Amino acid sequence: MEQVRIGIIGAGRISHVMSAAHAQVPESKLAGVFDVVPEASERLARKFDIPHIFSSYQDMLASDEIDAVLVCTPTFLHEQIVIDAANAGKHVFCQKPMALTVEQCERMNEAALRNGVKLQVGFMIRFTPPFVEVKERIDSGEIGDIIAIRSAVFGWEPTAEWFYDPNQGGGLLIDTIIHTFDLYRWYAGEVASVFADGGAYVFDGARKHGTPDNIMCQMKFENGAVGSIYGSWSSGYGDKTMEIYGTKGSFFIDLMEAQGGRAFIKKNQAAPSPAEGWNNLGVLWKFGYQQEARHFTHSILGRVAPSATGTDAVEAQKLAMLADRSIRTAEVLRVQGAGR
Ligand SMILES: NC(=O)c1ccc[n+]([C@@H]2O[C@H](COP(=O)([O-])OP(=O)(O)OC[C@H]3O[C@@H](n4cnc5c(N)ncnc54)[C@H](O)[C@@H]3O)[C@@H](O)[C@H]2O)c1
Repeated sequence: MEQVRIGIIGAGRISHVMSAAHAQVPESKLAGVFDVVPEASERLARKFDIPHIFSSYQDMLASDEIDAVLVCTPTFLHEQIVIDAANAGKHVFCQKPMALTVEQCERMNEAALRNGVKLQVGFMIRFTPPFVEVKERIDSGEIGDIIAIRSAVFGWEPTAEWFYDPNQGGGLLIDTIIHTFDLYRWYAGEVASVFADGGAYVFDGARKHGTPDNIMCQMKFENGAVGSIYGSWSSGYGDKTMEIYGTKGSFFIDLMEAQGGRAFIKKNQAAPSPAEGWNNLGVLWKFGYQQEARHFTHSILGRVAPSATGTDAVEAQKLAMLADRSIRTAEVLRVQGAGR
């Protein structure tokens, strides 16, 4: 297989971003689309020159013109589509959050594993500079052992009411902060316990559905490191700052300046050291989704090891669900399976 023929299920906002990303990957071929709203399918097909509009996702899954699907429907519809796709032998890219409960995520992951298909979940920050470089430099031991990670994460005000609903989009923690839970695991390993607090401070949708629009979450990792996240849907445009402190130095990632960013390492030493850094303008949009798309296609072609897998998404989901519960119970909650 030289090109992976891709079908898109759900032709809304993120499908346009995903299609633009795959259009930049020579080994990806946008081959088909299905949306329950025919005009949405037609719009996407016209814009990206997609040859086939399917009349149902089941028809797409039955087609031998499609090797892999991108599941871009609202979150509450992910589970059935992903399981059906895996059972049909298609590789699957599922937008984040993978689903709304840990059990749903586990069923989806098991379906992919059972059918021997790739399942990648939409944690595109893993593929976005400078986060990739920081990962490589943490793994090379440059800042020693991680002591603490701290970040502020800003999503946008949701574009539709279903994002607030625990039964449809999951709310801020599950929809948006899931990215950060995944990133923290990627950098510092498994989490042992979670405590979170927050509330619906700004948006009527959050108040109506009883999910928070601003949260603060504290974590303890199995290796003893600590982490904190301030997450907000109301505090500005969708970006983040992150600090990672280790026994030998620290990284600071700043994506606040109109999605420009810099990351630098500061060595732990008495005398001031000049910050070593770089700039990445528009990193998420310019690189993140494209590298994510490339990774998906290249992992199907066997050129790279899978990343942001279904198993990763199950673990990130556990953290988001625990944080959500902790807000309601005011308890520090232990991660199921911690101490593995
Ligand atoms: N990774 C990211 O950066 C990112 C960003 C935005 C959204 N997302 C995720 O992507 C998913 C979609 O979000 P969105 O903002 O594109 O939503 P959206 O509402 O803009 O688009 C969803 C599309 O799915 C279609 N749809 C609904 N039911 C369907 C069905 N049964 N079969 C086929 N199509 C169906 C709708 O008609 C709509 O066109 C969500 O899970 C969301 O959390 C991820």
